[in-house]
Amino acid sequence: MNGKVVVITGANVGIGKETAVGLATLGATTVLACRNQEKASAAAAEVQSRSGNDDVHVVPLDLADLESVRRCAATIEQSWGRLDVLVNNAGGMWTERSTTRQGFEQTFGVNHLGHFYLTSLLLDRLVASAPARVINLSSFGHHAAVGGMRWNDLQSEGFYEGFTVYARSKLAAILFTRGLARRLDPRQVTVNAIHPGAVRSGFGMDGDMKGIIGIGNRFIRPFEISAKAGAKTSIFLASDPSVDGKTGGYWVRCRPGHMSRAARNDAAVERLWNESKRLLDSVGFAPGESQQLIGTAATRSPVSTA
Ligand SMILES: NC(=O)c1ccc[n+]([C@@H]2O[C@H](COP(=O)([O-])OP(=O)(O)OC[C@H]3O[C@@H](n4cnc5c(N)ncnc54)[C@H](OP(=O)(O)O)[C@@H]3O)[C@@H](O)[C@H]2O)c1
Repeated sequence: MNGKVVVITGANVGIGKETAVGLATLGATTVLACRNQEKASAAAAEVQSRSGNDDVHVVPLDLADLESVRRCAATIEQSWGRLDVLVNNAGGMWTERSTTRQGFEQTFGVNHLGHFYLTSLLLDRLVASAPARVINLSSFGHHAAVGGMRWNDLQSEGFYEGFTVYARSKLAAILFTRGLARRLDPRQVTVNAIHPGAVRSGFGMDGDMKGIIGIGNRFIRPFEISAKAGAKTSIFLASDPSVDGKTGGYWVRCRPGHMSRAARNDAAVERLWNESKRLLDSVGFAPGESQQLIGTAATRSPVSTA
């Protein structure tokens, strides 16, 4: 990975931090895009010392604020001349409903919409750095989104339950992966989703998960894999030559995994794409004109899958 630039969102703890250590160890210029600058600076110092690579940097990113996402993309473009790998890693599950700065439900807004917008803004840079890769953190939990996206209530205003809303956001990660992969030439940019495993990270440990889900999350911790083990599939997809040109897939333990029926629904792929664009547009954060690929309705068929 010498000479390559990688950006990892939510890299101050957990799977993201271990992904950063792994890619920095392989020699990449490693950028941690994080919302808490104090925690991120400490993480960057740790990544540097564990990887032996000083080329590790922090860029502010709060996915719950599209203005911050826009600034983050601009900083990345101004600071580095290329972008080889974007790992959309940050995410969370929240027991209680809250909203992002622009008024979107937080789980959908942070896990999906913020990453959709960030990726759209960095797309030209990824294409210009071809061959480049995008990796989206989904979850096995997407299988729990039975019935697919709740199109008539994407903001979960009518009914909110943390786990099912999270499951739908992770289904959205796969639908987004497939939508983007369809629009891009896999010789230029590949896009894949992953499930990292059940990982003993910071996930749900900061008071965001309450009640029975919070208790359950703590109960299963001894049985979960380490964050270092959980980062393996992200590192593999970001760096391994064997996945050159493979796009539109869902990976588990560095192997092709099984997507739910809802995730394989082509109509849902396009509907989420169009809804995401419409929602961003409605709050004045539509991808710019230069992001011509994001605006392209044409699809590649068949997609080269994992
Ligand atoms: N752990 C698992 O078993 C598991 C299983 C399947 C999928 N995943 C997925 O793996 C990814 C990484 O999770 P993890 O287990 O490593 O959890 P984690 O330790 O809780 O890390 C989550 C990261 O996301 C960041 N984040 C949350 N909200 C953000 C926002 N508004 N803007 C920017 N960053 C934000 C957090 O920042 P702060 O530190 O500032 O909160 C943190 O850096 C997530 O997408 C998760 O859904 C995890």
